[in-house]
This record gives sequence, C-alpha cells and structure tokens, in this order.
Amino acid sequence: MSEAQWERTLTVTTAEQTHALAAAVGGVLEAGDLLVLTGELGAGKTTFTQGLGEGLGVRAGIISPTFVLVRIHPNLPDGPRPGGPDLVHVDAYRLDSAAEIDDIDLENTMDTAVTVVEWGRDRVEHLSDSRLEVDLHRSVGGESPASSPDGEFLDFDTEDDDEPRTIVFRGFGPRWAEAPQVLEITSQLEGR
Ligand SMILES: Nc1ncnc2c1ncn2[C@@H]1O[C@H](COP(=O)(O)OP(=O)(O)O)[C@@H](O)[C@H]1O
Ligand SMILES: [Mg+2]
Repeated sequence: MSEAQWERTLTVTTAEQTHALAAAVGGVLEAGDLLVLTGELGAGKTTFTQGLGEGLGVRAGIISPTFVLVRIHPNLPDGPRPGGPDLVHVDAYRLDSAAEIDDIDLENTMDTAVTVVEWGRDRVEHLSDSRLEVDLHRSVGGESPASSPDGEFLDFDTEDDDEPRTIVFRGFGPRWAEAPQVLEITSQLEGR
C-alpha cells in the first residue's frame, strides 16, 4: 500500500515531549502493530521508542540496539497494561534488504508484540498489511540546523540539549484507517 490514508504533523520542543507523545501513542497500540521510524541519527527514534515502551508498560532499558539488531521488551504484569503486547525493537540500519529482515524472523513475535523498526522504511513494509509511519525531523524551518552559518558542524549528540522536532505520523492499511484519537487531541492542544 503506497498511499497514506492520513497524515498528522506535530511539533515538540524537548526530548521529554517526544517521550510523552510516544507514551500516549503507546497507550493505544495493539499486538500485531508495526511502526516504521524514520529520521537521521540523533533525530529521536530511540527516544520515541522509549516513550512507546512506557505507554505499553514493557520492561525498561530501551537503548539504541547498535550491536543487537532485535530486542524484546516483555510486557510487565504490574505496568499500566498488564497482559498487553510486548515491544520488539529493531534497528534495521545495517540490514540492506527485505530479505535480511526476513532472516531475523520478526513474524514469530509480531502477533504478540508491537514491532518498532528504526530505519525500517523500504525494508519491513511486507511484514504487515498495515503500518504506522513515524518520521522525526530536526529542522522545523527550511534551513537544516546541522551546521552553523559559517559552515561549522555543531554537536547534536550532546545530552540534555533540547531542540524542536517535527514528528509526522502516517497511517497505512486497515489497522490505521483512522488516525488515533491521541494524535487529534495533541494537535488541538498544540493549536491553542
Ligand atoms: N525534541 C527532542 N526529541 C527527541 N530527542 C531530542 C529532542 N531534543 C533533543 N533530543 C536529544 O536528541 C537525542 C536523540 O537521540 P536518539 O533518540 O538516540 O536518536 P536516534 O535513535 O534517532 O538516533 C537525545 O540525546 C535526545 O536527548
Ligand atoms: Mg536509535
């Protein structure tokens, strides 16, 4: 499915807001859901996934899965959604193709988990007839903040350096026929 059924764009100004937005989204996710996260290094894909984990009530410790391609975070019986889905967190950066994705057998866990794939675009779409795309961008305006006016690179990996992000959500397939209410509510708050 190539056409998105809807698109919602939200802006946040801090990493905590990205986390909180993702936690709200995590609260409405269901087993079988596939999320495809796109954005340059340091855009906030892992930060977003950590928020999803909180909303899902899965075991903490979500990190950039740099060396391990797939991590499973089991749902916690004493969390906000006992009996809810696990979180399967994938970093597909080093995987070149859909064939390599198939080698890691995500199908085995998809039915009981929410599967979140950083760098998943053009690699994981075949895993499900539906997906929620989440694109994170650093620059809000047209100009990229990746370099200062004199062309010197700034360090964006500095911790606690809150910056604005634009987060674009797109729904594909029957599961995402409608945008989740949580995105509408957040848009309204933002628009006030
Ligand atoms: N608004 C924001 N949203 C998300 N992260 C932010 C934001 N502002 C600053 N940051 C910082 O940017 C970095 C994002 O890192 P990470 O989530 O690992 O990105 P990625 O997984 O996309 O490479 C973190 O250090 C985070 O604190
Ligand atoms: Mg990451």
